[in-house]
Amino acid sequence: MRNVLVAGGTTGLGREIAVHYLRRGARVTVVGSTPERGRAFLDDVAALPGEAAFVAADLTSLAENRRVIEEARSRHQALDALVLTAMVPFVKRKVTVDGFEAGFVLYYLSRFLLSYGLTDLLERGATPIIANIGATGITKGAVAWDDLHSARKYSLVHTTIANGRANDLLPIHYLQNHPDGRTKYFGIQPPYTNTPGNHLPQPLRALSRLTAAAFAKSPADGARDTLAVMDDQPAERLILRAVGKPVDPGLPTFDPANARRLYELTAPMLESVRR
Ligand SMILES: NC(=O)c1ccc[n+]([C@@H]2O[C@H](COP(=O)([O-])OP(=O)(O)OC[C@H]3O[C@@H](n4cnc5c(N)ncnc54)[C@H](OP(=O)(O)O)[C@@H]3O)[C@@H](O)[C@H]2O)c1
Repeated sequence: MRNVLVAGGTTGLGREIAVHYLRRGARVTVVGSTPERGRAFLDDVAALPGEAAFVAADLTSLAENRRVIEEARSRHQALDALVLTAMVPFVKRKVTVDGFEAGFVLYYLSRFLLSYGLTDLLERGATPIIANIGATGITKGAVAWDDLHSARKYSLVHTTIANGRANDLLPIHYLQNHPDGRTKYFGIQPPYTNTPGNHLPQPLRALSRLTAAAFAKSPADGARDTLAVMDDQPAERLILRAVGKPVDPGLPTFDPANARRLYELTAPMLESVRR
């Protein structure tokens, strides 16, 4: 039986991926911050052959990420796929319980903790892969090296782009730090996909839903390429794709020295919250 954990699996692309594996009889755990959406997800998938579970957790909190890792251990002996999709467009800067910028946590720190923290389970999987859904292949902007939590300059667009560039470096330092592992790291930019945008404030949510209904792909179409790669994996451990096409790992956004630099900055940041 395949084992899959989807961080952000109650709606959108994550939900589509969770349902795909439940249809194939997998044991799938989805994480989301809203218990009602978790219950609705479990109701919707109750008739599928797989075994579904929902873990309610706010992944903007580092302690909650660590709890999710423990919950995953109690439910899975091994993991074949870890899917990272939890993200919220924060229109105003939001500070988390740990004092960090919330978008930086969801886009990077949470995904760091889950990737590194679940490596032992992944290494026991049959064809282990981490699928990190973000903005792979976008070359605009840069990591805000001297303002990682956007305390000095915050705007939804500027900060999301900077956090996306930090997310780009996660697969690179993960593989630098696990040179002998079997787990593959898959960075993805999906096509524009019609997902609910539940966390957007009104009237932005209504506007975003109208635009998406007119122009975006369905979640099934939006997740198609990601699932095709996950189910028929190439040999290389670093897999980078944008809107269905391969992305050049030699792009400056994947610079190995920058990846090492970001890892060196992140490790003490995570340690500071453990104490
Ligand atoms: N949709 C697109 O067109 C598009 C395009 C490019 C990139 N992407 C990227 O693809 C990924 C998935 O996007 P999507 O559109 O499928 O998103 P979505 O439908 O909004 O789903 C987000 C998921 O994350 C969960 N989540 C949000 N905040 C959370 C928190 N604090 N703690 C735990 N879970 C949380 C949500 O559950 P709750 O609501 O219950 O918290 C939901 O399950 C994101 O990284 C996004 O940036 C999407």
